[in-house]
Amino acid sequence: MAASRLKQFCLKLRFKSTQLFIVAGAVLLSLLVTLLCIGLTIRYEVEHEVANVADVDYWKDQVSAAQKVWYDKGIEELKQALRIYSPQTQPRQVLLLLISGISAATLAAARFEEELQHSPFVWDQFPHVARIKNSCSSHSPCDANLVYRSLFSGVPLNEVVNHPCNHTLHSVLRQAQLAGLRTGFVTNQRITGAAAASLVASTNWECDGLMPAGLIDSGCQDVAQQLIFSEAGQALNVLLGGGRQLLSAKVPVYNWDPLDEQLCRARSGRNLLRDWSNQKLKLQPKQRFELLQLATELNTLNATNLDYLWGVFANANLHQNSQAPSLDLMLNKTLEVLRRPGVGHLLIVEHVLQQSVDATQQLRQLNETLTNFMQQQKNTLTLVLLTNGNYLSTSRDVSEETENINLLEDFFELTEVELQLQMQKLPSESLLFAKGPKSLLFYGVHEETYLAHALAYALGLNDFDNQL
Ligand SMILES: *[C@@H]1O[C@H](CO)[C@@H](O)[C@H](O)[C@H]1NC(C)=O
Ligand SMILES: *[C@@H]1O[C@H](CO)[C@@H](O)[C@H](O)[C@H]1NC(C)=O
Ligand SMILES: *[C@@H]1O[C@H](CO)[C@@H](O)[C@H](O)[C@H]1NC(C)=O
Ligand SMILES: *[C@@H]1O[C@H](CO)[C@@H](O)[C@H](O)[C@H]1NC(C)=O
Repeated sequence: MAASRLKQFCLKLRFKSTQLFIVAGAVLLSLLVTLLCIGLTIRYEVEHEVANVADVDYWKDQVSAAQKVWYDKGIEELKQALRIYSPQTQPRQVLLLLISGISAATLAAARFEEELQHSPFVWDQFPHVARIKNSCSSHSPCDANLVYRSLFSGVPLNEVVNHPCNHTLHSVLRQAQLAGLRTGFVTNQRITGAAAASLVASTNWECDGLMPAGLIDSGCQDVAQQLIFSEAGQALNVLLGGGRQLLSAKVPVYNWDPLDEQLCRARSGRNLLRDWSNQKLKLQPKQRFELLQLATELNTLNATNLDYLWGVFANANLHQNSQAPSLDLMLNKTLEVLRRPGVGHLLIVEHVLQQSVDATQQLRQLNETLTNFMQQQKNTLTLVLLTNGNYLSTSRDVSEETENINLLEDFFELTEVELQLQMQKLPSESLLFAKGPKSLLFYGVHEETYLAHALAYALGLNDFDNQL
């Protein structure tokens, strides 16, 4: 009897202690949650201290209405700065748009003009900017061919040997090809110019017309030939620009597409356009290719399935032909060729501004073209390099920049206004605007060799991770 009462008592007690545990447990849990919340709130506040600057309105309230407008605007800009984020993933493709023939002063003037209309250039809104030194400035005479080789091979300018025929430097474009990427080069100059030469050729002799006979006899191939016969030239998926008179001896001449007597001309018997087609015809397995010479042909072309596209749209430089295709059209078609599922690409575009046409006008056009292009491309590292380095001169010319330096002494003879104008022509560093995956690589001031190395890294061409 006593035993069963004791048992009941014990059961009741156990029941009560279970309840007690539940209550105590609940209290403890809520305490923990509270602590956690406090901790998180404090951390959030610490992390977002700067982002909440707008909430600190006691200072804002103390300034005049005239200043408050700008305070608010400043806060907006700060907020935007804090939101900047650039993915560190590898870009699928890279566009390098090289705009040359524009000084920092001209760019600033154009920019100021546009700002008045509240329409900034698209590259001015890129999150990252770097300055690329222009070592051309310290060389006398400066050779455009060497500058381009330095820029695209990552070897310092003074280490690039100006060899007549067998440069052995690999360009970043060739590296991209070897890594299986599709590649393209588009220019408003001739396709045999210094930029193209540094990308795919081992010489700077543009064509056979001006090449010394001895060099030809020794088997040296000029740039025009190498575009077709070098490994890099053969692998190039897209090549668009001018320079027909360097490729073929017989070319149609119109008043809207004249010959340029200053440039090299193919020796008689040469027809490299035909040779290119024949070479592509022989490829096994069969490849799809097109060779075009008219803007209208390019306009109607469906390039989506092409393996190779060559367009030679002018006898001389592209802008010397009034009927040449626009950069916009060339880039649209280039994208059609380069784009392939699962395969990346590297596209290098050279655009030399015409000194006879208003620079702002040309920049506006480029702004529109680039905007179009970027809308069609996701996961792209887009680089815009603006330069006034005298990358235009052929190897026989003396750099205009160098001349400017030599003329420094004469400056003291000049009036104030003349002096200002001359100073604006002095060498400047190139500006590089970057947007997209890995654009963080472009910051600060760099030697021109940096571009090639950074590009190779961004595209994953080298096994950098084991080296860094
Ligand atoms: C540049 O393009 C952007 C669109 O990306 C446009 O909003 C802006 O007005 C253009 N600026 C100029 C100067 O053409
Ligand atoms: C380059 O060509 C020159 C002759 O033009 C020759 O003397 C030299 O050995 C060549 N160098 C290489 C690396 O082939
Ligand atoms: C271009 O050709 C591809 C494949 O042949 C086709 O799918 C596409 O619709 C064509 N594009 C146009 C604009 O005709
Ligand atoms: C290039 O493509 C863009 C986007 O599809 C288009 O807006 C533009 O009109 C095209 N330009 C030309 C010249 O075909």
